[in-house]
Amino acid sequence: MHLFKMRIKTQGSIKKTQLLCAFVLEDSNKITGLPKFDTKTSSSINQSLKDMRGKLGKLTIIPISGKKQAQRILLAGIGKKENLTNDTVRFVSGKIAQKARELQLKEFSIITPPTFVCDSILSVSQIIEGSKMSLYKFEKFKTEKTNKSPDLTIIVSKSDKISKAVKVAEAVAEGAIFTKSIANLPPNECTPTTLANFAKDISKKNKMKCIIISQPELKKKGFGGITAVGKGSKNEPKLIVMEHNHGSKTQKPIVLVGKAVTFDTGGISLKPGQGMDEMKFDKCGGCTVLGIMKSVSELKLPINVVGIIPSVENMPGGEAYRPGDIIKMYNGKTAEILNTDAEGRLILADALAYGEKQYTPKAIIDFATLTGACIIALGNNVAAIVSNNEQLTKKITNSSKTTTEEIWELPLTQDYMDMIKSDVADIKNVGIGRAAGTITAAAFLKSAIKDTPWVHVDIAGVAWTQGAATKEKPYNPKGATGFGVRLILDYLQKL
Ligand code: BES
Ligand code: ZN
Ligand code: ZN
Repeated sequence: MHLFKMRIKTQGSIKKTQLLCAFVLEDSNKITGLPKFDTKTSSSINQSLKDMRGKLGKLTIIPISGKKQAQRILLAGIGKKENLTNDTVRFVSGKIAQKARELQLKEFSIITPPTFVCDSILSVSQIIEGSKMSLYKFEKFKTEKTNKSPDLTIIVSKSDKISKAVKVAEAVAEGAIFTKSIANLPPNECTPTTLANFAKDISKKNKMKCIIISQPELKKKGFGGITAVGKGSKNEPKLIVMEHNHGSKTQKPIVLVGKAVTFDTGGISLKPGQGMDEMKFDKCGGCTVLGIMKSVSELKLPINVVGIIPSVENMPGGEAYRPGDIIKMYNGKTAEILNTDAEGRLILADALAYGEKQYTPKAIIDFATLTGACIIALGNNVAAIVSNNEQLTKKITNSSKTTTEEIWELPLTQDYMDMIKSDVADIKNVGIGRAAGTITAAAFLKSAIKDTPWVHVDIAGVAWTQGAATKEKPYNPKGATGFGVRLILDYLQKL
């Protein structure tokens, strides 16, 4: 991964920087945190401030002549005070970092905004997340790489209590970048076995327990969903389990489950060719869980967390499962297959049932690019959640507000459960026509667990950038977004 050094300095100790950046509110006539300059320099900075007017995302660079603390000043607009959100500083920091890279600088400095914009700990976190994530580029397969990322110095008014926030923000950003970097891998370079190897790597580095269940053990242990979906591909399915045990022995763990279909052709119910390449992103839920587990273990969070990733490739091979098949799932229920493209719920149901049985968790949270219907319902900037527990939903919603990874809850009443009843088996893997597709998929998942508090996050619309419908953000360049990593790390830290 790219190099990027980070330092914290206090105001007054600004020595020499190639680019000194300050945030400015719309139509404000003040810049906080800049060192004192001579009258000529000050008046040209003030003139630039008047000209740029602090519009959100607007950047203005002022070259500084002579031997000064800074070779250039950058004024970064953050918009109107009443429009500030928990994303403003992250968003604008990302723009600044990309500008610094474009200018081929070795380093740049950002002055934290005044505390009425954002408290100092939050702004340090957001500056780090925004710039780190924005400097990530997926170029593993490019012969020519972009120049090295510039180093960042954050200039704070007081440095106390900030070092922990710095460590956390760096680990969070690195988790999200790790998720993006594996989610972006092409399907020929990333099979279930590849993902299992990533899990082994991070587990070894950060002392997690890692269990990989392969064929024929999967079949023997009754993972009927994973086995059925995996049959059509030469690349065998894997169930990946990682345990981070840093809580007390008696503390129930949080179980995180992520769908990792390394390529979803639809199987025998083959998808149309148009846009099928994007189905390499059908592993994003699993990649999110990998990124979270990496950060959790790096930060040594004092809790127990288990990551479970069912991974398959959904292919229409000669041994592929078929519409009409009836399979027996891990929890003993039978499922009628009516569409082999509704494969995610089959592998997730096995993983959820396994997680509940094996770990009696305090809560289960799953991530999946589960339904196209989710994009129809909420578009590409908000994920759908479906849950069986109000309290857990509240906590996740709270973390969504802090991290601005947006979610919206859909209902799951008995009527929806009835929509997946089968004539010939216990349940079927599709609902009734296209009605409430996201909810009927969630209903299938719910049927796999007994009574553990559970939140399902459908990330079909948000896991990767999907053209103009995805809001452009500097920290989400084209490709996988790592959605969910920041959200759940916030939730876990507040436990
Ligand atoms: N991986 C897809 C869902 C998907 C589609 C995610 C487009 C992101 C973008 C999933 O496996 C699938 O194909 N679901 C079907 C379910 C249907 C057959 C009941 C769908 O959504 O069409
Ligand atoms: Zn599918
Ligand atoms: Zn899928």
